[in-house]
Amino acid sequence: MGKNWEHLIKNMPNRLAPSMAKDHPNLPVVKEEGCYYYGVDGKKYLDFTSGIAVTNVGHRHPKIVQAIKDAADGLMHGPSGVIMYESILRLADELAEILPGELDCFFFANSGAEAIEGSIKLAKYVTKRPYVISFTGCFHGRSLGALSVTTSKSKYRKFMQPSGLTYQIPYANVKECPQGKDPEAFVIEKLEKDFASLFSHQVTPEEVACVILEPVLGEGGYIVPPKGWLKRVREICDRHNILLIFDEVQTGFGRTGEWFAAQTFDVTPDIMAIAKGIASGLPLSATVASSDLMKQWPLGSHGTTFGGNPIACSVGLATLEVMKEENLLQNTRNMGKYAVEQLERIKERHSVIGSIRAVGLMIGIEIVDPKTGDPDGKALLKILDLALEKGVLFYLCGNHSEVIRMIPPLIVTKEQIDEGLKILDEALSEYEATIMNLVEN
Ligand SMILES: Cc1ncc(COP(=O)(O)O)c(C=O)c1O
Repeated sequence: MGKNWEHLIKNMPNRLAPSMAKDHPNLPVVKEEGCYYYGVDGKKYLDFTSGIAVTNVGHRHPKIVQAIKDAADGLMHGPSGVIMYESILRLADELAEILPGELDCFFFANSGAEAIEGSIKLAKYVTKRPYVISFTGCFHGRSLGALSVTTSKSKYRKFMQPSGLTYQIPYANVKECPQGKDPEAFVIEKLEKDFASLFSHQVTPEEVACVILEPVLGEGGYIVPPKGWLKRVREICDRHNILLIFDEVQTGFGRTGEWFAAQTFDVTPDIMAIAKGIASGLPLSATVASSDLMKQWPLGSHGTTFGGNPIACSVGLATLEVMKEENLLQNTRNMGKYAVEQLERIKERHSVIGSIRAVGLMIGIEIVDPKTGDPDGKALLKILDLALEKGVLFYLCGNHSEVIRMIPPLIVTKEQIDEGLKILDEALSEYEATIMNLVEN
């Protein structure tokens, strides 16, 4: 590491808010390419994080880099409203082609949280109802409106007293299903009961603008609900004329093996929030609804300075092109299946693995205390550190940070999955050897 870098890293706690710079693993890098990061230490790291599900087409894909250069030669800033430009209109057209149902009208913003804010505002505006229902464990972002529906970790809400008139009910949890009962039927029955209880004790359905959820629980621990559960959420919303919002910030753009989880689960929401993979790392997001719904949200009811930036929109178009040309939805399904098969084998050798939960290349590996079966976030950190030392970067999630989040770029190959999982296997063995030694000594 150069002297200058050493100084900058040492001084980091004085310059960057710890809430920004103390996530795991905070690896100092100088370059990114394809499925790899290049560290300041001169080492090459296999990336199984995709910058938290963003660089789905791989880091710095040549077509993305070219799109940035080409766009910057023409326009760098909107704002839409002051000027109008081709890339934002073309991107809206192309996104409408890949989104399900009548989701064809867009309010472009910059981040996932902003797309959520827009979605909730839109739902409240058009229904003229004040309340929102969200699900315990879901993560929707950290701005105040998004935080009011975020319950993946209580520390995110500490001292925030989130307002926004929200209620929470439990997400699908098949683990609670008694033996001998069908897990899907169990969670659906529970869902009906939870809604009924909420509607009879706390809020009438006529006052509820929308129900918001992640179709697969992301930050909350990579929990994949049964299809029938999501379909029932849709039915309950329809029964009461409540709008359904899908937060597809993390699940979108091929991550689940279809363009959106809505297609994987065959359930179409009224409003969708999309971001992350939309523009390969450039800040871009959108609140999406049918044009009929959007038209009820008049000029001035929402707005943005930076949203739908011309360079970001051009990169959005290039991202869609690369995904189609390289057949990344199919690769996601193939590689996801392959990775889970390998992981199930690895699980047989390691008692610290509790469960493996996956859809497409959204893979969660739960780490538990082998004696008690309890979630073990401390063990997870040690395992991730060992894997990092050996050259693979994983991320984490879960209420106790007990789930290894494996979200490689969707261009990942079999060889890269083998390389990464071999290292994970070794890291798990080394960790287990240390706990065995502790017991023996
Ligand atoms: C499902 C989901 N919703 C919303 C967000 C917030 O997105 P951002 O960090 O871009 O505001 C995230 C971020 O991780 C997310 O995973």
